[in-house]
Amino acid sequence: MINLIIFIVLCSNLIIHCSSAVSTIKFGDQFNLTSHLVSHGSRFTLGFFTIPETSYTYLGIWYTHDKSSTKVWVANRSTPITSNPSVLMIDPNTGKLIIATGGTTLVNISDNQSGPSHNLAATLQDTGDFQLINETDNRILWKSFDYPTNVLLPGMKLGSDLTTGHDWELTSWVSDKIPDLGAFTLSWEPYSKDSLRLVIGHRGRYYWWYPYVNNKWSGAHRYNISYADNQEERYFTYHRFTSGTPMWILTPNGQVLDGETRSRFLGSPDFCYGQDRDGGCMTGTNWPLCRSGSHDRFKLLNGEFTGGILSSDNNSSLSTSDCMKRCWDDCTCLAFNSRDNGVGCDIWTGTKNVKFSVIPRGTSVQKYVLVSPSKGKARIMIWGAVVSGIFLLLLCLGLLWYLKNRKLRREEERGNEDYRHLLELMDSSDTERGGRKGSDMVVFSFAAIVTATDDFSDENKLGHGGFGLVYKGRLSDEREVAIKRLSKTSGRGLVEFKNELILVAKLQHKNLVKVLGGCIHGEEKMLITEYMPNKGLDFFLFDETRKTLLDWPKRWNIIEGIAQGLLYLHKYSRMRVIHRDLKASNILLDESMNPKISDFSMARILKQDETEAITKRVVGTYGYMSPEYAMDGTFSVKSDVFSFGVLILEIVSGRRNTRFSHLDKTINLIGYAWELWQQGDALQLQDPTLADSCVVHQLSRTIHVALLCVQESAGDRPVMSDVISMLINDTMPLPVPKRPAFL
Ligand SMILES: *[C@@H]1O[C@H](CO)[C@@H](O)[C@H](O)[C@H]1NC(C)=O
Ligand SMILES: *[C@@H]1O[C@H](CO)[C@@H](O)[C@H](O)[C@H]1NC(C)=O
Ligand SMILES: *[C@@H]1O[C@H](CO)[C@@H](O)[C@H](O)[C@H]1NC(C)=O
Ligand SMILES: *[C@@H]1O[C@H](CO)[C@@H](O)[C@H](O)[C@H]1NC(C)=O
Ligand SMILES: *[C@@H]1O[C@H](CO)[C@@H](O)[C@H](O)[C@H]1NC(C)=O
Ligand SMILES: *[C@@H]1O[C@H](CO)[C@@H](O)[C@H](O)[C@H]1NC(C)=O
Ligand SMILES: *[C@@H]1O[C@H](CO)[C@@H](O)[C@H](O)[C@H]1NC(C)=O
Ligand SMILES: *[C@@H]1O[C@H](CO)[C@@H](O)[C@H](O)[C@H]1NC(C)=O
Repeated sequence: MINLIIFIVLCSNLIIHCSSAVSTIKFGDQFNLTSHLVSHGSRFTLGFFTIPETSYTYLGIWYTHDKSSTKVWVANRSTPITSNPSVLMIDPNTGKLIIATGGTTLVNISDNQSGPSHNLAATLQDTGDFQLINETDNRILWKSFDYPTNVLLPGMKLGSDLTTGHDWELTSWVSDKIPDLGAFTLSWEPYSKDSLRLVIGHRGRYYWWYPYVNNKWSGAHRYNISYADNQEERYFTYHRFTSGTPMWILTPNGQVLDGETRSRFLGSPDFCYGQDRDGGCMTGTNWPLCRSGSHDRFKLLNGEFTGGILSSDNNSSLSTSDCMKRCWDDCTCLAFNSRDNGVGCDIWTGTKNVKFSVIPRGTSVQKYVLVSPSKGKARIMIWGAVVSGIFLLLLCLGLLWYLKNRKLRREEERGNEDYRHLLELMDSSDTERGGRKGSDMVVFSFAAIVTATDDFSDENKLGHGGFGLVYKGRLSDEREVAIKRLSKTSGRGLVEFKNELILVAKLQHKNLVKVLGGCIHGEEKMLITEYMPNKGLDFFLFDETRKTLLDWPKRWNIIEGIAQGLLYLHKYSRMRVIHRDLKASNILLDESMNPKISDFSMARILKQDETEAITKRVVGTYGYMSPEYAMDGTFSVKSDVFSFGVLILEIVSGRRNTRFSHLDKTINLIGYAWELWQQGDALQLQDPTLADSCVVHQLSRTIHVALLCVQESAGDRPVMSDVISMLINDTMPLPVPKRPAFL
């Protein structure tokens, strides 16, 4: 058998050697579909080849002794030859290298106006370069190395010819079988001044790049890398002196393989999911929030959907990576597959009641199914089991599976232990006082949360806060809740989560959002709070039509409610809590437009004898931060008072403190209010939509109090109990506000 193969290989080599040991096409020669050119050292062969799947013919070059005949170059791959008989020749009229049929030019391979001449010849060099040469002066008029396809041969350049502006870059095939232009490019790009990198691009966007610049290249010893950067050209090239078939192949999936070992040495091992996993993947931008770059993965599975919707696109320039991107970007997409010959897309979408059944060793086409460890179980029920003939393999798999599951279970248990520990802490501190027990708080199971939010479906998404997405959920007892899912990538999650949980569990006031419980599942942390049907104050206040729903009595009620909530935080709760991020979007409204302060992830507790504290990590929202906090990190009840003052001005005027402009002057809302106040015209600040409902003396007093709250010096600002007295008590005399802080 082996002897036979060797015999056949020897024979075929022999045939090539004997029948066409020419390396040059001269002016007037005709090179037909069965002819070959062989370079003078026999390393490379040029000839026509036909793709069986499409019956299209191309002109290509391959290593003579490469058993797989991998094409290292393909001429004009977007213009395949469909007519027979065709010939390669030097055009007697133009001197161009052309492919023609019956006197008609099909393709101009060299597009370089040289003019006809008997001294023109096209030669396949032993480097693999096919060159059109003027033999009179030995000038190269055109060469295939200037138009690389998907293979970089030793001596081929990647980079730019700076005099002509011509770029040398590889472009992948569209699929393993079709040489047409694909989605990926490999290029040599300026990274910073004086340094360049190998970059893989996907459809014109950076996709992956080599983590080191220039000669930090770890494969340098193997490939003998060299590069040039001068006035004329800037390029990267490599040499490899072996008798083998050295080449770098850019695959249709965006990886670069060593042609001899077929092992990947550039590019991500998998699709780049927007995580910097391999040192090179570019972080995905504009990716939908429904996808997690660190968790969601496509897996090749054999099976069928029931309930999903299949849509197809037979566009032949769509590669697998394009289909993958389409699926990734579409939040309803569950799976995809390439169509015939690896081009075109079949895409399965669906949100509810979709089941995917795995068919072991089935005959159906495999699909790339999106699997998310965090939500995969609920999203796509994977049915069936893999039947294996080998008992031992089964046993091993079983054991692995068991171990992995045990690990997962342990992790989950550990998470819940953490959480229980947390609750115990709260319990014990509460019991001391004999007050409310932490037992009001519920540890929710992850399954309950998945059911409540319909597996975190898009319809249930309410928005996103600083640390993750917020979903609406309906518990099994029909209660509506809001679920804040802390994003895993924020990196600030756990501290803030525990902070918020411990804090809010102990705080109870009608103007604070009530926390019902929490859930820890692996890395996932969720906070379950009461659901506020009316969203945040900013949703109404800063929208031209919705703001009309907030008449003066409602706004007054909101101002007073926030003041009461803050007073509770500062004074009447057992601790002195500084919210530190009071702003319109953190005031939620219930169905009767009563305000509730939410988001305690940045809140801090002061010890009873402390009045202020300093932090190195200033967190908060620009525009609401008091000057001493923004500049020195000093926070106290007075920094919350400042934010409250800004909030009042926003509620009264219906305008944002930042993004405020008036008569082209670059001042903020505080500055504007102060100017009006000094002119004795403070009521001008009033939101025009309040005209009918306004109670003038109340409004005037409110603005006055707001200006007291935003005074530059923290010592001058009133505390919340005084603020409330001043607001409510019409006869109480008010001090004259000093200059506010506005930057
Ligand atoms: C192709 O050209 C070769 C000579 O280069 C010739 O022997 C052969 O018959 C030609 N084949 C066809 C189909 O014309
Ligand atoms: C090839 O180039 C010539 C000009 O040199 C032009 O007239 C002709 O249309 C081109 N043919 C094709 C198929 O592009
Ligand atoms: C064929 O490829 C050459 C480069 O080798 C290019 O200049 C020319 O425009 C291409 N012709 C067609 C018809 O695509
Ligand atoms: C080939 O080179 C000679 C000498 O430089 C020149 O006269 C002739 O025009 C060139 N022919 C072509 C087709 O470029
Ligand atoms: C043809 O293109 C080559 C580059 O591929 C260039 O060096 C040469 O000067 C061009 N010749 C003509 C006649 O434009
Ligand atoms: C690397 O290539 C250069 C020529 O570009 C050659 O002089 C040198 O010996 C090569 N080094 C190795 C280790 O092959
Ligand atoms: C591609 O789809 C269109 C309609 O969607 C159809 O008209 C066309 O024939 C299809 N082409 C191929 C090659 O299947
Ligand atoms: C096919 O897809 C390519 C790339 O996405 C696009 O440029 C082209 O317009 C599409 N063609 C059709 C017929 O839709």
